[in-house]
Parts: sequence; structure tokens; C-alpha cells
Amino acid sequence: MSNRTFTMIKPDAVENGHIGAILKKINSAGFRIIAMKYTKLSLEKAQKFYEIHKEKPFFDELVRFMSRSPIVVAILEKDNAVEDFRELIGSTNPAEAKKGTIRNLYATSMGENAVHGSDSDKNAVIEGSFHFDPSEILS
Ligand code: GTP
Ligand code: MG
Repeated sequence: MSNRTFTMIKPDAVENGHIGAILKKINSAGFRIIAMKYTKLSLEKAQKFYEIHKEKPFFDELVRFMSRSPIVVAILEKDNAVEDFRELIGSTNPAEAKKGTIRNLYATSMGENAVHGSDSDKNAVIEGSFHFDPSEILS
């Protein structure tokens, strides 16, 4: 089991002024931020990042949304990081997200759901490397 996961605070949450509140939830839940940047995805980069979803009907909407305005990307460290972070963010659909989860508090719809969390240790490494050079990650 790896102890790292990768997250993005998505354009909707940044636009709505929730960066600070979301980072506070992340820290309060015991995650350590070992890499972080404020950045913006080009349409091409968003298409590459979400390549696994390219056959899905919502792909175009997803990549247009993710490249619409700035995001925060970060690598987080904690025991059982991937699973515990998915628990902290809640279900993809905010209407189904448990009370107090980040998506319950800050997401507006299934598409614009405030945060991303890696779904496996393998993807956490792939997604982290997509955004960060090894020299940008604290050990
Ligand atoms: P991520 O942490 O962002 O990967 O979300 P997830 O793992 O909970 O969901 P999934 O990987 O299945 O989908 C990736 C993202 O695509 C979601 O977070 C949504 O932003 C978007 N998405 C998923 N399903 C739909 C949908 O039915 N409609 C739209 N518009 N977007 C969707
Ligand atoms: Mg996913």
C-alpha cells in the first residue's frame, strides 16, 4: 500500500472561492501536502489527463470544464491515502455525497464536483507525475 494520493481542486471550487476551506479540510483530516501548485490546464492537457474517459459521453464536457479556469494540484501523504481521501471527498455525484464530505459541502453537480481524488495507488503515481517533477515533491 502506498501512502500517497493526488488531488485537484477543480475550476468550479476555485471560482467559488473554496480553495482555503478545502485545504483546511485536507489538513484537518491528517493529510500532509508534499507538493502543490496553482495552475491552469490547456484543453490538450485536460484531454491527456482524462484519456481513460475519452469514450464516455461526458468527455467533451469534462475536458472543457477542467480547462475553463485555474485549478490547484497537489500530492498528499497519509496512511491509506487513496482510500481515506476518497472517503473525505465523497461520491462523484454531490447529491449522493455523505454529509460533511468535500463534495457535499462544495460541489455543485455531477460534472462540476469541486475535487479530484486518485482511484488507485497506481493512478496516484501516474497523475502525480503528470503534474510534478520529482524535484518538486518533498520527501
Ligand atoms: P475524479 O476524482 O474527478 O476522477 O472523480 P470520480 O473518480 O469520482 O469519477 P470518475 O473518475 O468516474 O469521473 C471523472 C470525472 O468526470 C468526475 O469527477 C466528473 O467531474 C466527471 N463526470 C463523471 N460522470 C459524469 C457525468 O455523468 N456527467 C458529467 N458532466 N461529468 C461526469
Ligand atoms: Mg476518477
